[in-house]
Amino acid sequence: MGLYARAILPRLIHAGMRQELFLPYRQRLVLEAEGRVLEIGFGSGLNMPHYATTLAVIGLDPSHLALSMARNSAQTGLRSIGLLEASAETIPLARHSVDTIVSAWTMCSIPDVARALGEVRRVLKPSGRLLFVEHGRSPDASVAKWQDRLTPIWKHVAGGCHLNRAVSALVEQAGFRIERLETGYMTGPRPLTFMYEGCARPQ
Ligand SMILES: C[S@@+](CC[C@H](N)C(=O)[O-])C[C@H]1O[C@@H](n2cnc3c(N)ncnc32)[C@H](O)[C@@H]1O
Repeated sequence: MGLYARAILPRLIHAGMRQELFLPYRQRLVLEAEGRVLEIGFGSGLNMPHYATTLAVIGLDPSHLALSMARNSAQTGLRSIGLLEASAETIPLARHSVDTIVSAWTMCSIPDVARALGEVRRVLKPSGRLLFVEHGRSPDASVAKWQDRLTPIWKHVAGGCHLNRAVSALVEQAGFRIERLETGYMTGPRPLTFMYEGCARPQ
């Protein structure tokens, strides 16, 4: 990992992702979290203040700096918070050991997202749920065309972020049944802002 990815990008992501416009998405996302919770792509822990205080949450992220920022800002009343420096492509947790997996603006950035979703399915209990809020591929052909054009450049400056991933299809292909899905644009340039918010269960 180069200096930019290690020491600069996590701070830029934190500054970009703490905007107020994301707050309603974060609040809705974690509302249904229950039991032992794993959040993949935890970053600097911006979802922490929104979890119910009774929960035990594990935050997983490959960035050492992002997790340090989360640790330093951890002023939540969560029952417990554990931080794991790891990739979602190889989650260091036992099979069927987690009740809820949360993913916020993360599936865009994982290099092998299919593998990561396979890992999510492995560690999630059969009765568990995957809660997600992600940006991704637009159903509008003209926007999707720009997403395909911009992604090769964008991913180099934005920590591997792909603008053109069809999130719900990826989740289904990994063996999940989508229980709830809301899609639509949030404020901002259309190639960056087509949102997928939902909940899925292992098939
Ligand atoms: C756009 S940020 C979102 C951060 C946080 N989820 C939020 O809502 O603010 C994407 C996050 O995905 C993380 N990430 C990148 N590759 C990953 C991987 N292989 N496994 C898990 N997380 C990863 C990045 O380090 C970063 O923290």
